[in-house]
Amino acid sequence: MSARTHTDRAHDDWPDHGWTDDTGPDDAWDERWDTPPPRRRQKRSPTGRRQLAHLTASDPDDVQDDVIRRLTDRGYITEIVAELKSGKEATAYVARGPRGSVLVKLYRDLQARSFQNDQVYREGQVILDARAAKAMQNRTRLGLHMLQQDWVLSEYAHLWTLWKAGLHVPEPLAGPHPTAYAETVPAVVMRLIGTEDHIAPRLSDAALSPAQAQRAWEQSLQGMADLLRLGYAHGDYSTYNLLWWEDTVTIIDFPQLSTRQNPNFHTLLTRDAQSLATSFRKHGIHTDGPAVLRDVQRRALGPAPEPRLLLP
Ligand SMILES: Nc1ncnc2c1ncn2[C@@H]1O[C@H](COP(=O)(O)OP(=O)(O)OP(=O)(O)O)[C@@H](O)[C@H]1O
Ligand SMILES: [Mg+2]
Repeated sequence: MSARTHTDRAHDDWPDHGWTDDTGPDDAWDERWDTPPPRRRQKRSPTGRRQLAHLTASDPDDVQDDVIRRLTDRGYITEIVAELKSGKEATAYVARGPRGSVLVKLYRDLQARSFQNDQVYREGQVILDARAAKAMQNRTRLGLHMLQQDWVLSEYAHLWTLWKAGLHVPEPLAGPHPTAYAETVPAVVMRLIGTEDHIAPRLSDAALSPAQAQRAWEQSLQGMADLLRLGYAHGDYSTYNLLWWEDTVTIIDFPQLSTRQNPNFHTLLTRDAQSLATSFRKHGIHTDGPAVLRDVQRRALGPAPEPRLLLP
């Protein structure tokens, strides 16, 4: 099958900082970090995107992307089929794997990745290692590397928690132990929603009948309530991060999930309710953020989904 390219930029409602500075202090690598130190790069303009031609090169020596090669070597994927989409955080690829179709979410290069808005989600998080905290705060090369690792590992950890709790989220395909999923960083591998030829659309792109819109709306409220019952605010909850496949809503995009430990929790929850209401207007659902929040809080007191039992 030939490689296809879909590259629409998603909702760009937040500014991109576009870190280009690779001139942070030369941190001696600390052996407490269990991954190899980031290689010092030649100065170049960051693209943040990896070229599909490289990823699909037939000569293994031409496969320039070491992340994809690592995923292949470790058996998570057998081949990349297409670049699906380049979003603000990562590029999504459709791949094949031993257990079916895979979505590879490959986070951007450090320099191209924006960490400007991370702070709002990170507040309340305690970093015990003072040196690590300082490196992150000062955005040194080491600090950026740690921030990125933390962001990607958070997405996996949240995916596993939510998958095990029975929510409609993509099944993570590395883990459940962190030492297993750490192998794929800075990529997250998960089950593709839809099929290779008919990938599930985002609700923002889906054409829904009034009856389907109502079902999607109900499920989206329920999904937000399921998250809240577990103590989470998604932090970017709208039809841009909800997929629609076989009459079912699947929630995606979890690195920024926040808990009540975060002093911004209520603000994030309120904003999610507003975003959900606003983004559903195109499907003929007219309500407002406060009404959504009340509904979600009421549903969060109701029964939880059936947890999934993991096979040994
Ligand atoms: N498991 C999946 N199955 C099918 N498609 C997916 C899956 N996960 C993500 N996608 C697609 O990839 C896109 C990017 O994923 P995601 O939203 O997690 O990343 P992002 O970098 O935050 O992108 P965005 O800026 O679009 O929010 C999604 O909008 C969706 O179209
Ligand atoms: Mg997204």
